Amino acid sequence: SMAEKGGYDYFMLKEIAEQPKAVADTLLGRIDASGSLTLDEVRIGASELREMDKVVIVACGTAFHAGLIAKYAIEHWTRIPCEVELASEFRYRDPILDPRTLVIAISQSGETMDTLMALRHAREQGSKVLAICNTNGSTIPRESDAVLYTHAGPEVAVASTKAFLTQLVACYLVALYLGQVRGTKWGDEIQAVVRELSRSSQDVERVLDTMEPVRALARSLAHKGTVLFLGRHVGYPVALEGALKLKELAYMHAEGFAAGELKHGPIALIEEDLPVVVVVPSPRGRSVLHDKIVSNIQEIRARGARTIVIAEEGDETVVPYADHLIRIPATPTLLQPLVATVPLQVFACELATARGNEVDQPRNLAKSVTVE
Ligand code: G6P
Repeated sequence: SMAEKGGYDYFMLKEIAEQPKAVADTLLGRIDASGSLTLDEVRIGASELREMDKVVIVACGTAFHAGLIAKYAIEHWTRIPCEVELASEFRYRDPILDPRTLVIAISQSGETMDTLMALRHAREQGSKVLAICNTNGSTIPRESDAVLYTHAGPEVAVASTKAFLTQLVACYLVALYLGQVRGTKWGDEIQAVVRELSRSSQDVERVLDTMEPVRALARSLAHKGTVLFLGRHVGYPVALEGALKLKELAYMHAEGFAAGELKHGPIALIEEDLPVVVVVPSPRGRSVLHDKIVSNIQEIRARGARTIVIAEEGDETVVPYADHLIRIPATPTLLQPLVATVPLQVFACELATARGNEVDQPRNLAKSVTVE
């Protein structure tokens, strides 16, 4: 009913709107006033965490994309090697696991069979498993050594939105916590990140306030067959997530690419008026990535692409090459997915509506897949 949906037409719209609260709730009580992480709930001891020499993340679908982003944060902030693998592929290749491997299983529902089988396999090899999960008492946290709950609240729409943002928050918290217990130098960069993370729900709120042009753009593209998504660094998994949302909801052909890989094949797909969404990294920080992606935008536009550019406020270099410009607040590079994903969710949801699709219950999909 309308009441259950909080006055929105679809659960997905409600859940997109709930993201600032979901992010704030997931942060609540986990960062203290001095900027230290207080993850007492992670019942894997500090001494054990100090011994870990590898992190392996397993997940499916949208949760897998959160894992891909986590790898950048974990490796950059802790210098521990981190692999990310689709849970359905994991155990069948006889992965190298031992008691010094920390396995992180990410799952909204906590019931995904592929992820459950991957974590069972990891525990059989003696690895410790930390679940990042949104559903209290579900199977995956029950079978794990420890759990960090995301506090997104119940997610009803099949396509994951607020759960994804809170999975990112949980991954950042775990990465920072690992850095803290292992004595990673708590430099200015990390302090700035903790500060920004603490106020990220306001950034998400600001993005949500500016989504009307994104909805109008989506409606104007409802007749299109294909949309491509480009990004690099953490923008690459964001591009993958943008493409997945469009497949799930709009039933359109959508693909995400690493922008640097464009020249090795995908650029052959570019044709007149093809919509290409580009996630632009911050011009501050790793500015070399920014400049490279700006040349990618020029290249595809010269070949006729209709460029839809997601760029930080104040980044003027992209303006001449953007047929459509979507602004997001400035954030530290690694946190950008928290704001960059939101327009892509809104875009896919509106396209689905414009195409007359069932937004909350897309064809052929299930909210939680309990078969392998
Ligand atoms: C299903 C859903 C996806 C979800 C995936 C993983 O395929 O349709 O939206 O991302 O499962 O779900 P989980 O509950 O493990 O996060």
